[in-house]
Amino acid sequence: MSLVKLSEARRFMIDCFKAVGAKLKPAEQHAEILVQADRMGHQSHGLNRLEKYLNDIIYKDCEPNNEPEILTESHSTAWVDAHNCLGSTASFFGTDLAIQKAKECGMGFVAVKGSNHHGMVGFWARLCANEGLIGLAFTNSSPLLAPTRSKKVALGTNPLAIVAPAADGEMLYLEMATTAVALGAIEMRLRAHQPIPLGWALGPDGHETTDAELAFKTSMLMPLGGGEMTSGYKGYGLSAAVDMLSGILAGSNYAHHVRKWGSARGTPANLGHSFMAIKPECYAPGFGERITECIRYWRTLPPADPKKPVMAPGDVEKQAMEKTDKQGGILYLPELIEASITLAEKLRVQPMQISE
Ligand SMILES: NC(=O)c1ccc[n+]([C@@H]2O[C@H](COP(=O)([O-])OP(=O)(O)OC[C@H]3O[C@@H](n4cnc5c(N)ncnc54)[C@H](O)[C@@H]3O)[C@@H](O)[C@H]2O)c1
Repeated sequence: MSLVKLSEARRFMIDCFKAVGAKLKPAEQHAEILVQADRMGHQSHGLNRLEKYLNDIIYKDCEPNNEPEILTESHSTAWVDAHNCLGSTASFFGTDLAIQKAKECGMGFVAVKGSNHHGMVGFWARLCANEGLIGLAFTNSSPLLAPTRSKKVALGTNPLAIVAPAADGEMLYLEMATTAVALGAIEMRLRAHQPIPLGWALGPDGHETTDAELAFKTSMLMPLGGGEMTSGYKGYGLSAAVDMLSGILAGSNYAHHVRKWGSARGTPANLGHSFMAIKPECYAPGFGERITECIRYWRTLPPADPKKPVMAPGDVEKQAMEKTDKQGGILYLPELIEASITLAEKLRVQPMQISE
């Protein structure tokens, strides 16, 4: 593993985005979501994804310098056309708007069409919590989920995030794909030459597989919960609900109509997202205190395995952030460093400097 300072990873990513034609602001914004994903332990959605976003720009699937536009709005709602800009530009715009509306009238719900992949979905809900609001974020994505009993994909990994501010600066933080795992997790196993557990993905015959290479090639994920016996149909239903709240509501491509990422070059992905911000002060007093009380209580529950303490939702990310900050940067797999060197040569940018 190689240690790279956060500032250096950010510099490298910004240089890469600028090299393919993005202006400084979208380059900085997109680099930020990738660096934060690496910092918070969701490495499948950090540097690991950089080249996919760059290719979207190179092949003109995405117009990195376009600006989103409000199509219709009310005090608490807005419908936005992202005009095929980067998913981060669209999502900063949509989240900021939801926050502004929630501060003014208690709640803001913004649906965005015409967008692109926007990375770690918790990033957006967290922006709301940073402002003292409850944040929710939803997005649809390329079909990768085989509905329960199907051996064909029909929905995306369609993640959701719900983040709420506690009274003491902590957060109740949940972000999750509605598949058992995101495809990136299989990619990371593949890069590390490790098998995947049963319940993550199907092979081409529609049966579960532990072969990371076959699973990545087939790209047919099982819903959250796995097979029918372990209630995977709930993950399937959740994925459908997330698409309803993002793609279907926003009028973007939805469900099986979303293209496979990178498969239709020159064609906009036209993804849909939605962002919701809620002001807790509109409801019972003491919201933040009760969240704090729950978080502290869950952490003190007796663990089944003494070596594995019970965590609150979001502790994984919190611990990853603390570890990253303490070690002075992000630890990248050798395969990712090699890929970044190749990318630097291709784009003629300065390679990432490794600290250790
Ligand atoms: N933009 C997209 O299209 C898209 C699609 C899918 C996933 N993603 C991203 O992929 C990343 C990975 O998603 P995932 O579903 O694999 O996440 P995950 O399974 O790693 O984590 C899901 C949630 O579970 C919590 N958690 C994990 N272990 C826990 C434990 N032992 N106790 C309590 N809580 C625990 C985490 O804090 C997190 O909130 C996320 O960043 C997600 O946003 C993005």
